[in-house]
Amino acid sequence: MIMLHRILVCDDDDAVRSSLGFLLTKAGYMPNFASRPEDIIRYVSEADFDLVLLDMNFSVSINGEEGIELLRKIKILKPSVPVILITAWASLELAVRGIKLGASDFVTKPWNNFQLLKIIETSITLSGNQKKEQNFVSGKSEKLIEFQAIIGEDPKLVEILEIIKRVAPTHAPVLITGESGTGKELIASAIHQYSARKAKPFVKVNLGGIPASLFESEMFGYRKGAFTDAKSDHAGRFEKAHKGTIFLDEIGDLNLTSQVKLLRVLQDQTFERLGDTNSITVDVRILSATNQNLYSLVNKGYFREDLLYRINLIQIEVPPLRQRSNDIPLLADYFVNQAVKTYSLSNKLISKEGKQWLCNQVWPGNVRELKNIMERTLLLTKSDTINTDDFIGAQKTGWNPDPKRHGSSGTLDDMEKQMIISTIEECGGNLSRSSEKLGISRATLYRKMEKHGIQTEKNE
Ligand SMILES: Nc1ncnc2c1ncn2[C@@H]1O[C@H](COP(=O)(O)OP(=O)(O)OP(=O)(O)O)[C@@H](O)[C@H]1O
Ligand SMILES: [Mg+2]
Repeated sequence: MIMLHRILVCDDDDAVRSSLGFLLTKAGYMPNFASRPEDIIRYVSEADFDLVLLDMNFSVSINGEEGIELLRKIKILKPSVPVILITAWASLELAVRGIKLGASDFVTKPWNNFQLLKIIETSITLSGNQKKEQNFVSGKSEKLIEFQAIIGEDPKLVEILEIIKRVAPTHAPVLITGESGTGKELIASAIHQYSARKAKPFVKVNLGGIPASLFESEMFGYRKGAFTDAKSDHAGRFEKAHKGTIFLDEIGDLNLTSQVKLLRVLQDQTFERLGDTNSITVDVRILSATNQNLYSLVNKGYFREDLLYRINLIQIEVPPLRQRSNDIPLLADYFVNQAVKTYSLSNKLISKEGKQWLCNQVWPGNVRELKNIMERTLLLTKSDTINTDDFIGAQKTGWNPDPKRHGSSGTLDDMEKQMIISTIEECGGNLSRSSEKLGISRATLYRKMEKHGIQTEKNE
């Protein structure tokens, strides 16, 4: 016998209940309905539902606050039953609070049927997996996600890890802010990694590196013949990210014209390739990052407020390293071990005073700067122990605290990157000449540019 998944639909609007009922039945679910708060609680406690769809804005009997209260009660009664919230755009902050309180996901009115069914399916699958895991790992019911690549014990970082864990499985857009080198990209990739999209693409776009004239062709793709150089059809970044995650890095650098174009895709996930009239709809999770203050950019008129509200539903503010300096020794050890493995060096330890010195630095380039100095010192230090003098020596021999500056910050990878950038600049952006000059094939140059995130305006 096939067991249908039971879904409790909670809404006081007859029309909403019947249209959701129709949709769910057609999709193979068994819907039940509740229109009053007291019924919702009674049904949830008496029956076993696979999912609850909860409207947060009952028109007459309850307001948003009571919606939150209802969610709390449901989560107390049946913690493992996924709850999807339905909210209006105007009350989106309710959805955010709801997710913090354990809702699995949310949709906004008017919802898109296709998207709603997808969210329902994902939530039911994820909760099923959790149940299975709990059965297998008896005694370890709460299996914490291990964030192997994100190192740190500072309460501020731990709180961020908690947020990542909670928001990763949802489709909520997340804006990650913080100074350069604090780990924004690492966090974005962790969110993708802990979502049901992890097997699908994670597409990173450096919006600061795309000239306004190329924005559309780069993001939305083009048809053959759309412009002189369009020799064949080309999929843009959004298409490449289908079913996965797109990471819009340096979103604060985006010019106003491109912001309008981006807003449209974020609103309905639909766009056209350049030179094509057919619309393409994609299913993409949006993550963005910036080291700028978008709110002040909005005030100055450089950033669209409506775009900000599309991307910042959940905001993660990553504190600078100097505000979590207790984590510095931990990170330093981690980077030493990593570099020892990467460069096949003999293991070295950092002396106590050395660690103290590291903790006393300001680290304007944050974790990236710490990582660079650790690698550089390791390469230059001959003895088994790394002391303060070694750090100071490494600092003198060209370590550059400003990661945005062109000068090399010392690791082999950085040196390679700088060499490529300056050669391309010397050759006026001509990649054929640059690859000749560097003594590598064009394909290798492309690969290396991709690896280092180097973008140019011209591709010939
Ligand atoms: N908590 C952490 N644990 C381990 N490695 C980290 C941590 N935070 C950052 N890193 C490492 O530091 C480097 C910089 O991190 P990342 O690129 O994510 O910073 P960012 O905030 O995106 O910087 P930018 O604004 O300059 O783009 C990366 O090599 C990353 O892996
Ligand atoms: Mg980054």
